[in-house]
Amino acid sequence: MARRVIKNRLDDLAIFGGRPAFAERLHVGKPNIGDRQRLWERITGALDRHWLTNNGPYVQEFEHKLSQLLRAKHCVAVCNATIGLGIAMRATELSGEVIVPSFTFVATAHALLWHGITPIFCDIDPATHNIDPKRIEALITPRTSGIVGVHVWGRSCDISALTEIADDHGLTLIFDAAHAFGASYQGRMIGNFGRAEVFSFHATKFFNTSEGGAIVTNDDALAAKIRLMTNFGFAGYDRVVSIGTNGKMGELSAAMGLTSLESLDSFVTVNKSNYECYEEELRRVPGINMVRYDHQEKCNYQYVVIELDEELLHVSRNQLKEVLWAENVLVRRYFHPGCHRMEPYRSSSAYRELQLPETERLTERVLSLPTGMGVGREDIAQISAVIRLVVSQGREVHRRLSDTHAGDA
Ligand SMILES: Cc1ncc(COP(=O)(O)O)c(C=O)c1O
Repeated sequence: MARRVIKNRLDDLAIFGGRPAFAERLHVGKPNIGDRQRLWERITGALDRHWLTNNGPYVQEFEHKLSQLLRAKHCVAVCNATIGLGIAMRATELSGEVIVPSFTFVATAHALLWHGITPIFCDIDPATHNIDPKRIEALITPRTSGIVGVHVWGRSCDISALTEIADDHGLTLIFDAAHAFGASYQGRMIGNFGRAEVFSFHATKFFNTSEGGAIVTNDDALAAKIRLMTNFGFAGYDRVVSIGTNGKMGELSAAMGLTSLESLDSFVTVNKSNYECYEEELRRVPGINMVRYDHQEKCNYQYVVIELDEELLHVSRNQLKEVLWAENVLVRRYFHPGCHRMEPYRSSSAYRELQLPETERLTERVLSLPTGMGVGREDIAQISAVIRLVVSQGREVHRRLSDTHAGDA
């Protein structure tokens, strides 16, 4: 555990010449690892069996356990969520145009474009950071085939409103649930909504299989199609019955998934306790608002996100980020600058004029703070103390950093 470095004055900050608060870098999304002994046993088991992929026993067990946990009929483990999204999009026959938020990881948009589908970016509701259902109908054209909702920070979209719009207009609804493993909506586990939902188990997610993901659906025919597509369309040794790709999860990832599942509750408990600790530390800081979770639902608390009110703070979000990076606290901007301002969308004539005011405002206001098993109360107290110091002298920090242009990018 880091020994507390007391910082009372601006000159104590590392960016102004002080000693960094942390000797080693603190990351957002440092991988959580379950019981190593169990993991090694499982890996040894796979090696002894010489069965490393192609629907091995660990993948089957992992899929079964996920289905049970989510109380969903079908779960297909995949190599990552980006491929999983592509498979779900193809299996549900999305085409033409699909409405999607721009405030998401670029994989959501790229998966569409990769399959020749045009993403139509929709603005978000600033209160929830999720796609704003009220703005969707204006974007529907004769070419629209579906909507991809994203449960940002693991807080579910307004699923009822999205379902109603999709039903009214004959659109297919699927969800990018990359952030939402272990979360619920109106008491039902995420994984049960739309035609299919796709989870990510990437190393930076609180529950990980190093790389990996899962497509979850309650539709029998769709599940069969997804399973075929995940394995090149093979229905038997030499029998290919559909188009497909290689989306399979391997046994070593499934071994990690099974091991991580055994620690799932403790991962969530630590996330929640870290979240509450930050909440306590930052509660009275003017201009810093924490993204809140609905405690009536199941939440994974994997993201601790602050939204900054620059008018109250006098210091910019980017300047605060630079100060914290100098302390070795690698806070992250999310999903800056918004998909529609990234390539290839930005330079395409279809998007060049596109303005999404709420998305653009939010990408300038949020910071995600380090949490997870590698972060303790003392770390959180130290990070929060730096934030409080910066906020208490916002004008002066702004002036000093403006002279050096730190935080301009
Ligand atoms: C919202 C969102 N969608 C999709 C992905 C892609 O997941 P993967 O890295 O498993 O392909 C991520 C991963 O970070 C994500 O955050």
